[in-house]
Amino acid sequence: MRIYTPICDLFGIQFPVIQGGMAWIAGGRLAAAVSEAGGMGTIGCGNAPAEWLKKQIDIARSVTTRNFAVNLVMTSPFLRENLELIVREKIPVIATGGGNPGPYMAGLKEAGIKVMPVVASVALAKRLERLGADAFVVEGVESGGHVGEMSTMCIVPMVVDEVRVPVVAAGGIADGRGLVAALALGAQGAQMGTRFICATETDVHPNYQEKVIKTRDRSTVVCGETTGHPVRAIQNPFTHEYLKAERSGADVETLTKLGIGRYPLAAVEGDMINGSILCGQVVGLVKQVQPAAQIVTEVMTEAVALLQRLGGLPC
Ligand SMILES: Cc1cc2nc3c(=O)[nH]c(=O)nc-3n(C[C@H](O)[C@H](O)[C@H](O)COP(=O)(O)O)c2cc1C
Repeated sequence: MRIYTPICDLFGIQFPVIQGGMAWIAGGRLAAAVSEAGGMGTIGCGNAPAEWLKKQIDIARSVTTRNFAVNLVMTSPFLRENLELIVREKIPVIATGGGNPGPYMAGLKEAGIKVMPVVASVALAKRLERLGADAFVVEGVESGGHVGEMSTMCIVPMVVDEVRVPVVAAGGIADGRGLVAALALGAQGAQMGTRFICATETDVHPNYQEKVIKTRDRSTVVCGETTGHPVRAIQNPFTHEYLKAERSGADVETLTKLGIGRYPLAAVEGDMINGSILCGQVVGLVKQVQPAAQIVTEVMTEAVALLQRLGGLPC
């Protein structure tokens, strides 16, 4: 038995398992390893320039001939040059986060590129579907990094009911149970970020992976609600300092200054005290560092076994 959904056809992949873009963590090596294993890998571009992205695309293509995606943050100062590069390189799929990809949609579609915005509300999904989005990642508040306010369990079926294009569920999914739950909610696949932090092929500092493995439930917090850019991370002295400032009414400028550079401090330099360790609530299910292919295979094997078991339930 295989799990094959329309998302597999749309993106030319074997399994409906997508590795979410993660700036500073998910480069060409990780994206290629996930795609080579049958899922869809994603290079997380964040605020990096086109020179960096080109290098990661070349790394990925030296490992795999399979399709992989690029995740672009719409607020990046290098957005335009990265979009041009993606068109030149004929990247088949882009996932967009952190803003509205509407103005670029027509050009990308003309170039034959599938556009999959990350959304956290029905209204945004409907608006972007009208502009031509090919699929959506619908992300719940459980996820690591920037978060919306709705839980995955609630927002996924709401978007599924309102759009015609396929939906990929994200936020709180780390194993086969999560994938089956996503399918039950009407999604055509699952995107995981937190679980892939602990893939062998990431570019993340080993301290970050060690921290993720040691962290259990009730250990993440959301900082930045008052700035309009809430972010989920593992509690540490930095989040305590930030939340203390936020609760005592610090203004957006002060909070922005306090937060600048904290994520790369954790992801690149491995500073678990002063850095921001972006991570999802599902962290308690991540128990080891392992190759990306093993993660994809485990998730798929668990999901297939679970579907078979559920199919046998009396009704
Ligand atoms: C460390 C980290 C960095 C992330 N960076 C990005 C990013 O650069 N762009 C983006 O659209 N999403 C980003 N995300 C979100 C992931 O792509 C993914 O949708 C999310 O992690 C799914 O939820 P999960 O953490 O529960 O698996 C990030 C998530 C994490 C954990």
